[in-house]
Amino acid sequence: MGEVEQPVVNAFRQGGGVPYSAYPRFQALQAEESGRVRDAAPVDGVLPPAPGLTERLTAGIDVLDVGTGRGHAMNVPARAFPRSRVRGVDISTRGIAAARREADELGLENVEFAVVDAAEPLGSYDLITAFDVIHDLARPGRTLAAVSDALRPDGVFLMGEIAASNKLEENSDHPLGPALDTFSVFYRMTVSLGEGGEGLGTVWANRPPEPRSRRSASPTSGRTRWRATS
Ligand SMILES: C[S@@+](CC[C@H](N)C(=O)[O-])C[C@H]1O[C@@H](n2cnc3c(N)ncnc32)[C@H](O)[C@@H]1O
Repeated sequence: MGEVEQPVVNAFRQGGGVPYSAYPRFQALQAEESGRVRDAAPVDGVLPPAPGLTERLTAGIDVLDVGTGRGHAMNVPARAFPRSRVRGVDISTRGIAAARREADELGLENVEFAVVDAAEPLGSYDLITAFDVIHDLARPGRTLAAVSDALRPDGVFLMGEIAASNKLEENSDHPLGPALDTFSVFYRMTVSLGEGGEGLGTVWANRPPEPRSRRSASPTSGRTRWRATS
């Protein structure tokens, strides 16, 4: 983060943000960190919030991971659910190349990776995931709309986001509060602003989600229930 201090300060003064290309090592760092989570709980810890999902994955469904980075989050379930067809998309050519390498090394034939801007139409899927991604995007609203359009009836969208408040003072007893706000200012918010985006930042939620509560029904589709877990 220290490497980008001056560009971030300049962006604060002059407007705009700092582009992804200024962080050549961040994706590898992120992949290392999230990979540990996926390896520790590749299926039970990440996928079961939706009832019946494991059974559907076992039978075989179409899965899309938005902002897949280096793709580990898809290579793990692709191996666990060989009847499902899995696709990971990311705007980063470097990330997609690494994802393809890992899939090849694992000999996976039911997974593919593509360089795609997730704000564009995405196709048609039974399960769409976005782990630690939405707050990075230049156009999060358009991506969420594209996800909604791409979900089949009974489709499931799993969005992994940070369980913290967007109000600095409400994170004072959060064990990762200072780190989250540092990531926000020095990376998440500024890369989005660098693309002329909305700059949500790492902790964009209004408040921490209530654990394991069902929060609302979608007013638009009528097909979607969602709940927050932490
Ligand atoms: C914080 S990383 C998360 C990566 C991965 N999901 C994980 O958990 O390791 C966010 C990812 O979003 C990708 N991204 C940013 N803007 C994007 C866009 N418009 N379309 C697709 N992917 C995008 C970045 O390249 C990056 O790999």
